[in-house]
Amino acid sequence: MTAPVLSGEDPAAIRAAASLLRDGGLVAMPTETVYGLAADATSGAAVAALYAAKGRPKFNPLIAHVTGTGMAEALAVFTPLARKLAAAFWPGPLTLVLPRTTDCPVSELACAGLETLAVRAPAHPVAQALIQAFGGPLVAPSANPSGGVSPTQAGHVAAGLGERIGLILDGGPCRVGVESTVIGFDGNTPLLLRKGGLAREAIEAITGPLSAPDAASPKASPGMLQSHYAPRARLRLNAVAPEKGEAFLGFGTSKIADRNLSPDGDLQEAAANLFAFLRELDAGAVAGIAVAPIPDEGLGEAINDRLQRAAAPRDIA
Ligand code: TXA
Ligand code: MG
Repeated sequence: MTAPVLSGEDPAAIRAAASLLRDGGLVAMPTETVYGLAADATSGAAVAALYAAKGRPKFNPLIAHVTGTGMAEALAVFTPLARKLAAAFWPGPLTLVLPRTTDCPVSELACAGLETLAVRAPAHPVAQALIQAFGGPLVAPSANPSGGVSPTQAGHVAAGLGERIGLILDGGPCRVGVESTVIGFDGNTPLLLRKGGLAREAIEAITGPLSAPDAASPKASPGMLQSHYAPRARLRLNAVAPEKGEAFLGFGTSKIADRNLSPDGDLQEAAANLFAFLRELDAGAVAGIAVAPIPDEGLGEAINDRLQRAAAPRDIA
């Protein structure tokens, strides 16, 4: 049986979803970045069921979603700099990786054995309403089978995971379209662990230059598998024109495009369209997808990161 899709604006649907979560069930919820697959963060059994439904490797830890800093500070130890970032960007597409509090109630399975916890307050009203109604933190990876393209519409979730979860809350298409930016800390030095929906420049205006994680300590960013976000079709990046058998994903003034991420060259619009357009072109049974060059600034950094992973050799199941 496939999961019912209910409007996230219906208070009865939010109540039903919260009750399902209390029973250890899995609920897909819209966030401003991508749809997340939510489970009770404090229940080892619910978290285990979530890893199983996604086919996600257990060494890849999850983000605890909270209503705001009040809920987050019970879970993770904030430094003054972390507080400043949360004050500036929450609710919003920013995830902070911080030490777990000593009495952190989040299941250790969700943290994959790390002493840190990733926390984020999503800016979508349906996600906020669900966390509020549930009354505690929800872990929520992107609501797609592991390694696939992240969902930005309720229909994408139904297509990928509909048979394996309890309920899908529909909140319309996601406004940001790429996952949150993940920031960790080495002492007081902020590290850019994952490029995402909050542009590096906005964060650096507060923190100064962000460092890359130390390649020698892969545990700093365990989820960054090289092949990820992968459609079935082969991707060819920085293409000026399609070759025979390829669909063309354009940007800016490209006239030949089968889909254009943003005819005006707007990187926010391009990010919001990215995953849906990859899915649409992939559904056309093409041999490959050629992608126009995307400027590597602002949200372009996250777009290029996802495109490079989608184009990488498939080294995971
Ligand atoms: O926008 C988003 O972040 C979406 C929506 C649903 O909120 N969620 C999402 O979750 O993208 P997921 O599980 O697909 O990605 C979480 C990322 C992974 O790269 C993971 O490795 C990293 O956050 N992460 C989680 N906990 C961590 C930790 N303790 N230390 C370092 N990285 C961590
Ligand atoms: Mg994901």
